[in-house]
This record gives sequence, structure tokens and C-alpha cells, in this order.
Amino acid sequence: MDYLRIKGGKKLGGSVAISGAKNAALPLMAATLLGKNRLSLHNMPDVADIQTLLKLFTKLGSDYEFSDNTLRIKNDAIDSTVANYDIVRTMRASILVLGPLLARFGHCEVSLPGGCAIGQRPIDLHLSALEKMGAHIDIRQGYVVATAENGLQGARIVFDKVTVTGSENIIMAAALAKGTTHLVNVAKEPEVVQLCRFLEAAGVRIEGIGSDELTIEGRDRQALEFADITVIPDRIEAGTYLCAGAITNSELSITKAAKEHLEAVIDKLEKMGFYFTYNDDTITIHPAKRIEPVEITTSEYPGFPTDMQAQFMALATQAEGTSTIEEKLFENRFMHVSELLRLGADIALNGHLATIKGKTELCGADVMATDLRASSALVLAALVSGAKTDIHRIYHLDRGYESLEKKLQALGADIERLSE
Ligand code: EPZ
Repeated sequence: MDYLRIKGGKKLGGSVAISGAKNAALPLMAATLLGKNRLSLHNMPDVADIQTLLKLFTKLGSDYEFSDNTLRIKNDAIDSTVANYDIVRTMRASILVLGPLLARFGHCEVSLPGGCAIGQRPIDLHLSALEKMGAHIDIRQGYVVATAENGLQGARIVFDKVTVTGSENIIMAAALAKGTTHLVNVAKEPEVVQLCRFLEAAGVRIEGIGSDELTIEGRDRQALEFADITVIPDRIEAGTYLCAGAITNSELSITKAAKEHLEAVIDKLEKMGFYFTYNDDTITIHPAKRIEPVEITTSEYPGFPTDMQAQFMALATQAEGTSTIEEKLFENRFMHVSELLRLGADIALNGHLATIKGKTELCGADVMATDLRASSALVLAALVSGAKTDIHRIYHLDRGYESLEKKLQALGADIERLSE
């Protein structure tokens, strides 16, 4: 199994290109199940989660080729609507095929995704919305067995909680439903906006894109005609590399980034004393005279992203003072704390609130990744740890960061991927 060996203490510099957003690519791929024409998705990130969904697409009968960050795909010959456990359990976002398969074929069986390290991750809001659209949902031997013999009907749906993939699933289902669907309390993430634009370009009338209320005119199971699309940049990868610059207090640039998707993250980095210059799609972070402590509460977009919480916890160990981070979205998203403590961090937990004392000298150690974003926090901490740090179970990292060690090497980090 691979692990990363990082020798910290070096300044970084130069620039790194941001890849396409994994959390935008996954729903776009699922949406292609609503059409039959061949199309290309450009700027796809080549990461494990994409490969996992492609494995599922192979089982469904999808015809695709994926090379040089472009996915050319055609779903006219889908001959299965079963998403089985061995794939869904490795990547819970596979649940995104539920809406499209049910809307197009009137039946599907999708394994319950189960929880993961950061929380129980229920899908009750996905299922209750589909029932409101006329679906019959059974849970049998760990599978969601969904049927809608006469297709889905448009409905008015108010989401109890803001759910990103829940919103995406129902937006896709509504695209082929009969009649109008009104969605209230919809997620506003950039990846939800891009999904709506993709469906709109394929002939689905959607009002309210970018807001928390959508009105969708369903196409009553008429296959959609998709145009090619370029996946938006990954705002979480971008934020992670800005934090790499911040934690080593270096000047570095990220290119192919979307500044408008990073406002909450940049705002917090500015409050910590860093400043930024911009040129087209390039963002440059400049060192802080003194790294100030920060107070963070995670919330839905455009608030501070939960997917950046672990990275800022690592950064807060280098602030001169006490920082607080409150995790409001997931019940167990502090798995990185125990590993950061092994690196010498001074962090106290009280329920969903973490208090981080800085500035602490971090030491090297053997640490273990537990989930995708927690592992990037360990990489950041290792960049400032005096000696050598070995990070194990980095298959978590490979799920969402393309060529991480190559990108950090290009920025001057002393990092290598080894096998144990
Ligand atoms: C998406 O997960 C992202 N994944 C996550 O990124 C991200 O952390 C999360 O949104 C929050 O921003 C993808 O987009 C593939 P939610 P998702 O449904 O959709 C509760 C990463 O690092 N909830 O918005 O699964 C849920 O328990 C990943 O790339 C219900 O109660 O998250 C949570 O507390 C990690 N019932 C809250 O809503 C439901 O039916 C937000 O979850 C659905 C969700």
C-alpha cells in the first residue's frame, strides 16, 4: 500500500494548475444517463472517485472512453439499472445514479451507500422526494428498490435540510418527469449550478438557477440531447493549495481557479493576515507578517465549506493565538484531530467545537489518513513539521486529489510516494 513521506520545513513557491472539480464531475456523469447522444466532458479530474463511477457505468452498459482528462460517453445502450454494493460502498456518491436511472427507465436498484468516517450520511431526503414524485421505494437486503412504472410526476418539494447530492438527484429526476417540479431549500454549490446549466443546455427549462428555489419543466421521459461541457475548477483542491502556501507562509500561485467559488475561504485567509493578488484565473497568496488566529463555523455554500475545515485546523496550529472551528454539517468530521495531535498540535475538542492553540512547533510522525479531506490536513501539517512524516492509507487522498505529490513537488515540497 502506498504512503507519502514528507520532510517539512521548506518554503514553497511557483504555481500549480487546479484540476476539474470531482464533486461537479460526478453529478454531470450521472446526468448523461438521461440522454442517448455521444458527448464530451472536458477538464475531468483523473481521481479514484471518477474511476469508481466509471466502473459502475461499465456495469450499466455505458459506452465511454476516458483519456487526457476528457470523458467521451454515450448512454444509448444502457442494459442494467442495478448499482451494486461492492461499488456503491466504496464511493457513496454513486447514489447519484438513482434519480437519472429511475426517471429514464422507471425502475432501478441502488445499494444503500452506508455511512463513512465523517458520519452516518443518510439519504432519507433523496428517497422522500422521489416518493413525492410518484416513485415506489422499497428497502430490500440493503438496496433501494425504486419503481415508477408510469414515469415520475412533477411535484413541490421542500428539503428539510440542504443536501448537495440530494438536490442533484432530484434535479436530474425532475428533468425527465412529467410536469413541473418546484424545489425549495435547494443546495447552491457551484456544482449544483453547473448541473442545472448542463440540463438547461440539453433542453430542460429551469428557473432560479443559483438560488435555493428551482422550477423545473420535466421532459416526460424524452431523452435529452446533451452538449459538450467543461467541468468547473475544484474549489476544494484550490483552497487546499492556498492553505499549503499559508501554512508554510510562502508566496505561491494557483492557476485555472475560479475566484468567485472561493470567497469564504479567501476571506478567512485574509483575516489570518494573508493577502492576495489576482490575474485572470490565477490567484496568488502572499505571506502574512503575523498569522492571526481564526474563528470558523462551517455551513452550506456560499458559507465556509465543511470540506475545508480539516485543512484550516492544520493551518490554525501555526497561528499566533487561539482559534476555534465549529463543524455544523457532519457529526463526526474531526477524525483528523487525533492524527494532528500526534504531530504535536494543541487541540481541544468539545462536541462539534475544536479549539486550536498556536503557534505550535509540529514534529514529524507516522500518521494515518481517515477520510479524503482529513488526509489533506495531514499533508499540510507535514509541510511544516520539522522532521519526516509518513502518511499512511493515502488511498483516501487519491479519491479527490489528482497528482497531489507531483503538484506539491512542483511547488518545492520535499514529498515522495513510497510503497510499504
Ligand atoms: C456532498 O456530500 C459532498 N460530496 C461532500 O464532499 C460535502 O462534504 C457535502 O456535500 C457537504 O458540502 C459530493 O458532492 C459528492 P449532504 P453529500 O447531503 O451530498 C444530511 C468530499 O470531501 N443529510 O449535503 O452527501 C447529512 O447527513 C465530500 O468531496 C440528511 O440528513 O452531503 C449531512 O449532515 C465529503 N439526509 C447534511 O445533510 C439526506 O437525505 C449535508 O449532507 C441527505 C443529507
